[in-house]
Amino acid sequence: MSGPLILGIESSCDETGIGIVRGHELLANEVASSVEEHVRFGGVVPEVASRAHLQALVPTLRRACEKADIDLFEVDAIAVTAGPGLMGALVVGLTAAKALAVALDKPLYGLNHLVGHVAVDLLDHGPLPQPCAALLVSGGHTSLLGVNDITGDIVELGATIDDAAGEAYDKVARLLGLPYPGGPVIDRAAADGDPHAIAFPRGLTAQKDLARHRFDYSFSGLKTAVSRWVETRRRDGLDVPVADVAASFQEAVCDVLTAKAVDACEHLGTTDILLGGGVAANSRLRALLEERTAAAGITLRRPRPALCTDNGAMMAVLGAEVVTAGLRPSSLDIGANSGLPVSTVLV
Ligand code: KG4
Ligand code: ZN
Repeated sequence: MSGPLILGIESSCDETGIGIVRGHELLANEVASSVEEHVRFGGVVPEVASRAHLQALVPTLRRACEKADIDLFEVDAIAVTAGPGLMGALVVGLTAAKALAVALDKPLYGLNHLVGHVAVDLLDHGPLPQPCAALLVSGGHTSLLGVNDITGDIVELGATIDDAAGEAYDKVARLLGLPYPGGPVIDRAAADGDPHAIAFPRGLTAQKDLARHRFDYSFSGLKTAVSRWVETRRRDGLDVPVADVAASFQEAVCDVLTAKAVDACEHLGTTDILLGGGVAANSRLRALLEERTAAAGITLRRPRPALCTDNGAMMAVLGAEVVTAGLRPSSLDIGANSGLPVSTVLV
């Protein structure tokens, strides 16, 4: 067995994740989600999430150690999400990581959550071809990245200028009267609908927008268009064809995400792209990206769905990369950074 034994801690949003890896080998990935507690609010409530992390952290850590069949004293280092994410939620994980680092006398690595979403694929598909492109789509972020070196050279080509893709799914689900989180529900509803029933707008794809925003996304105009369309139907006393709205909305999102992702590969001169983040579980995004990348001669990598949503293994494996690269550990006085840029891999 090779590679350092790393404990990874993730608490940036509503999942308390503890992962344990040895190099690229996954030993444990325990996740406690507080999603049920947020359902009635239609979105994540930061205070509720922070409290849930406090309650879940130690039991989840114990479960992960049992699963990996290791003693905490054996780990070589502790990797933790330092940002971006919800401030109070991040602080819980970071504080726990610092306490463990002091108690066990092990080095601490404060790492970027978004880069973790890319790194997690190492557990499924081995070393990343570098450079490669990455499309990150989650509830909080939507970005196109150029990954030259996962431990320290990542360029953001573009990102959403308003809502994240997952956020758009959640908001559209809400206006259709569907439960939170909206992504999986819309995905399922869309299966029975016609993706061409309604021509919803494709954000930032007009010629004039492409000049300034070639690799950026915008989903708030789409959300407003869906809302207006649904309101008009209701005002006119007509039924809202939920499946058609879901399918047409989903097609608009996936069309833009994939078109710009292929363009980014061409711009970077790479034939490898990685799809990561919670929305990577979306069936249409997966199919359309596969179709368009194949047509362009690009190889698509995507971690298994369980590793796409927030978890501790993604931080652990990024930690393993950083340790293997011989980078310096973080200082024990690092703070959580809710707006940590993706270009900062290690704090
Ligand atoms: O990466 P993630 O677990 O958390 C963040 O870092 O935000 O992503 C959560 C987001 C939610 O907005 C959820 O609605 C979306 O991922 N999501 C999906 C699907 N599964 C989860 N969106 C579209 N289709 C899905 N199948
Ligand atoms: Zn995430």
